[in-house]
Order: sequence, then structure tokens, then C-alpha cells
Amino acid sequence: MEQEILKLQGQAEEQLATVENGEQLEEFRIRFLGRKGQFGSLMKELANVPVEDKPRLGQMANKAKKEIEGLYTEKQQKFAEGSTRATGKSGQIDLTLPGRRPQNGKLHPVTQIMNEVCAIFESLGFSVAEGPDVEHDHYNFEALNIPAHHPARDMHDTFYVSDSILLRTHTSPMQARIMEKQQPPLRVIAPGKVYRCDSDITHTPMFHQVEGFLVDKHVSFADLKGVLTTFTQKMFEKDLALRFRPSFFPFTEPSAEVDIACVICGGSGCRVCKRTGWLEILGAGMIDPEVFKMVGYDPEIYSGFAFGLGIERIAMLKYGIDDIRLYYENDLRFLSQF
Ligand code: FA5
Repeated sequence: MEQEILKLQGQAEEQLATVENGEQLEEFRIRFLGRKGQFGSLMKELANVPVEDKPRLGQMANKAKKEIEGLYTEKQQKFAEGSTRATGKSGQIDLTLPGRRPQNGKLHPVTQIMNEVCAIFESLGFSVAEGPDVEHDHYNFEALNIPAHHPARDMHDTFYVSDSILLRTHTSPMQARIMEKQQPPLRVIAPGKVYRCDSDITHTPMFHQVEGFLVDKHVSFADLKGVLTTFTQKMFEKDLALRFRPSFFPFTEPSAEVDIACVICGGSGCRVCKRTGWLEILGAGMIDPEVFKMVGYDPEIYSGFAFGLGIERIAMLKYGIDDIRLYYENDLRFLSQF
């Protein structure tokens, strides 16, 4: 009997050492310490030992059981501490707490506007083409009639990657890329990111443009005005005044900067429109015959117009935002409103 008591104690200790979680600990309790457990059976067997051995063996069995119970309690406390740390509350999960709602992602407001702009031009029959952000000097400048040392290069504060590779400063390189591959008639828009060393409340170093160009026979400035007026009416769902201001781009002649009546102040003047009542949203013009010659089109046969829209500026006007940098501060309180 003595041997049996020692063996059972040894077995229980060994088993308890392998217990790794609450479930296993409960199994252990039932198997060794429960009413029908192995220590229970041992106590019953004590009834059959000779009377003179009973007190000694009884004491020995009780001591073994107590020791095992002590080890069991220690382990139970260890698990309870662990789960308190995990749940933060006496090892129990509070089922009455409200659930955590998963956060749904959505498109950035600038992407939403970009998609809207593209959809409007697609409805007017333009097809969409995309080109590289990292561009050759040739397409960004030379093919657009801006040779090295041309003063127009000063208009772009360019991020150069190497002497002849740069981050495109506008989407206009896509005019040359498409025209050298395709013959007129062409009606194309080219959306994408562009980069300039520029930062204030209406300028960011990375922004989005949508280039648009149409080449065919007998295209006139009136067609350009018609397309841009239709675009602004559809975009802002109302008749907004457009202003064509004479300007200069080496790849268009004549050229214009197009302003839209400032929707933030209604034209009375505010910090966004720099108190002018107008906000510039795009540059445009009739494609310069020199550009046509470089891609092999005959300027006596073909004419065309091109424009480059600033998407963030449209987004500012559409949503009444008075600082362009808000779009890129990644503040969810701002972004989730759109
Ligand atoms: C151009 O980039 C010409 N490539 C546009 C063009 C295309 C002219 C085709 C003729 C024919 P400009 O530098 O003005 O032009 O920029 C066009 C528009 O981009 C601006 O009207 C403005 O809305 C927006 N823009 C310019 N710089 C920034 C900037 N740093 N941050 C945000 N928007 C800008």
C-alpha cells in the first residue's frame, strides 16, 4: 500500500507538470482529485488494510493528496493571472461590452474626384492612357518644344533622378508618347501623379493632373472652349463662370490658363483665391505645330487642342476645402467625410 501511495503521488506530480492550460488542468483535477478520481479510490482501499496499519497509511495518503492539491492550486492561480493579463479583468471576458465595429476603407477624396473627372471625359468620347511617373527629359521637355536652356524650364521646379531622368512635372509628356505611336484622329486623356518642388496652401510637391488632347482635321479653339465648359458644368453640376486668361506654354499656341469662379467665396475674394475671386484649375491651348512636326504629323492637315487639369484644385472647389495640404495629412477625421 505504501508503494501504491508513493506511485500515485509520483504519477500525479508528473502529469501536473505537463499541464499547459485551464482545460488540461480541469482534466487533471477530475482524474486525480475528483470524487471518482484516483486519490478517492486510494482512500477507499484504505478500508481494507489491517487496523494497526490504518493510522500510518491514512496519514501518509492524506499528506500525499494535500501536496498534490497544493500544486494544483498553484497552477490554477498561475493560469488565472495569465488570463487576467490577457483580458484585463479577473480572467473573464465581459460579454456585455459593445463590439468593435470594423473600419471600412474607402477611396481617397482625390481618387474619387480623379475617377469622376475621367468618367466625364470618357462620356465625351475620350479614351484613357497612362504613362510613367519617372520620365525621360526628352518626353517631359524636348518633345514638347522645351529644349535645354529654354527659359520655360524655369517654370518647373523639377526633381531630377539623373541628368536625363526626372519625376514628370506634368502629364503633358503623354501627348508626345501617344502621338508618336498613333495617327489622328485622337481623343485621349492621361491621368496621373506629377511632381514639383512646390508647397503652400494651393500647391503640394506631389499632385495629380489629367492631360487631355484631341487631334483631328479642323479642330479650333471653340472646340476646346466647348469641351471645357461642358466638363465644368458636369463636374460642378451648375453654370460656373470660366475665364480664359492668355498665357504661354511652349507646346501650345495660343495658350491659356483657365480659371473658375471661386466657389469658396463666391467670387468676392478669399485666401484660397488670393482675393481675386478666381482659382486656376488648368492650362490649355492649341497644340503647337512644332510638336506635330516632332511626331511626324502634318500641321497643315491636322490641328488639335490640349489641356492639363489640376485634380486637387478641382477637389478643393468641389468640397470647399481651403488648404490643399489637408488632403495629404492623413487625418482620418478629415478624410472620412468624403
Ligand atoms: C501644366 O502643367 C501644363 N502641362 C498644362 C497644359 C497641358 C497646358 C496641355 C497646355 C496644354 P500648369 O503648370 O499651369 O500647366 O499646371 C496645370 C494645373 O495643375 C494648374 O492649373 C493647377 O491646377 C495644377 N497645379 C500646378 N501646380 C500645382 C501644385 N504644386 N499643386 C497642386 N496643383 C498644382
